[in-house]
Amino acid sequence: MRQKVTVVGAGNVGATTAQRIFDKGYADVTLVDIVEGLPQGKALDILESGPILGSDAKIIGSNTYEETANSDVVVVTSGIARKPGMSRDDLLLTNMKIVTSVIEETSKYSPNSIHIIVTNPLDAMAQQALKISGHAPQKIVGMAGILDTSRYRTFLAEELNVSVDSVAAYVLGGHGDTMVPVIESTNVAGTPISQLIEPTRLEEIVQRARDGGAEIVNYLKTGSAYYAPSASIVQMVEAILFDKKEILPCTAYLNGEYGINGLYVGVPVKLGSEGAEEIIELKLNDQELSALQKSADSVKELVDIMQKA
Ligand code: NAI
Ligand code: 2OP
Repeated sequence: MRQKVTVVGAGNVGATTAQRIFDKGYADVTLVDIVEGLPQGKALDILESGPILGSDAKIIGSNTYEETANSDVVVVTSGIARKPGMSRDDLLLTNMKIVTSVIEETSKYSPNSIHIIVTNPLDAMAQQALKISGHAPQKIVGMAGILDTSRYRTFLAEELNVSVDSVAAYVLGGHGDTMVPVIESTNVAGTPISQLIEPTRLEEIVQRARDGGAEIVNYLKTGSAYYAPSASIVQMVEAILFDKKEILPCTAYLNGEYGINGLYVGVPVKLGSEGAEEIIELKLNDQELSALQKSADSVKELVDIMQKA
């Protein structure tokens, strides 16, 4: 029997994620959205590509949650996205209400699932999902670090004219503006990045990765990125469904690791069928550790605003 993935939000990120999973054929997908007809139409369109792609997976669309029951993984992308001039944090209170109503349903119908939270501002939304679901913290993880790291690796590979496969890097911290690239562990086939790119140019590349979401929003004007985000989500889905125990930068609940307590922050995580099975503590220099803690402070500010709302 195939495993089951629910994707909530049939917009750009959700529908592209559902399509990527269906195309690979290893899991059945339920796509949910509040807009009548939208998830049904997109799911049917994707289903009808099966004979061409050789996928026998099932995909259905729904405006309610009965069909999501007993999902192995639930991906939450429902919410509003940024328009030019908006920060991710501008989405906070609207998306908090949306995520709350979604998690009430998904945690009821799939109490044993692993939730991947994508809706922005994503670290704060993961914290809200934990509060509403009552699930164990390791069963709620957020997607952002893989995307930020992928942008960083893309720009480094372009700069050095090497394959993206040869660039190893980790980006930690909150999503985007407060991300923390771990320069000491960034390397190209084992050679430290600091020996290959001079510091001023490296800082320009880091800044471009930090602004990577805004760069796309400024081009698209009516929405934000979804191809790289959906590819990032699928990497997490596969690590969980196939119990890969892959070490990936994800947003996870910290319980004292990196000196941070009771908060969701982006860190390297061992991702497997039980979710965030282990937090990996990299050896950071003082500057990186303080940037990570500053990033956690900005997540805490958002969590405080949500608590007062
Ligand atoms: P979109 O606007 O294309 O899709 C959002 C969908 O959510 C819409 O179809 C909407 O009808 C649906 N929705 C709204 N309220 C709902 C509810 N209560 N129940 C079910 N569905 C509901 O937006 P897009 O581009 O798909 O982005 C979705 C979210 O993901 C945004 O908050 C965006 O900022 C975030 N995002 C996060 C990334 C990350 O790295 N964590 C990367 C890319 C996007
Ligand atoms: C991004 O970084 C919108 O958070 C999303 O593209």
